[in-house]
Amino acid sequence: MLQGLREILAAARGHNEAAGITGYLAFDKVSFVQILEGPRAAVAELMATIRNDPRHETVVVLGQRTIATRDFDNWAMGGGLRTVDQQEVYLRHGFSQGMDPARLTLSRLVALARDLVDLEAGRRRSDAETEQEAEI
Ligand SMILES: Cc1cc2nc3c(=O)[nH]c(=O)nc-3n(C[C@H](O)[C@H](O)[C@H](O)COP(=O)(O)O)c2cc1C
Repeated sequence: MLQGLREILAAARGHNEAAGITGYLAFDKVSFVQILEGPRAAVAELMATIRNDPRHETVVVLGQRTIATRDFDNWAMGGGLRTVDQQEVYLRHGFSQGMDPARLTLSRLVALARDLVDLEAGRRRSDAETEQEAEI
């Protein structure tokens, strides 16, 4: 399954950048949860492709909305094997177990994904600081 996830991500990274699509993909061992942002036609086209992908069973659209600014700067991935730090963010947002689509809303998901991206960005920043310190 993780191999399948890697393949999806590899295809998605190149395609989404070319199509101007940003967002987030998480996998909790049962469900994929995905946020797609971009020009309406590009998102619709990608959704049609994803719907036809045999690697999942049912596609549920949690919601759609028009946004003035993007929540995500690029195409990101989170979830999968939750790290301890990530688990803390999931718990803060009330997701103790898997992400049951029946309990998910678009705004809850965007809030969770933004915090996971922030966590990852903070970690990269502190890695860079550590490297700089090591150079001095
Ligand atoms: C849950 C899930 C999410 C996916 N998300 C994306 C995506 O964001 N972008 C993308 O290009 N393909 C995504 N895919 C893969 C597409 O369904 C399709 O396999 C891929 O776009 C085809 O790429 P190719 O024409 O280069 O083989 C996803 C597949 C699954 C199962």
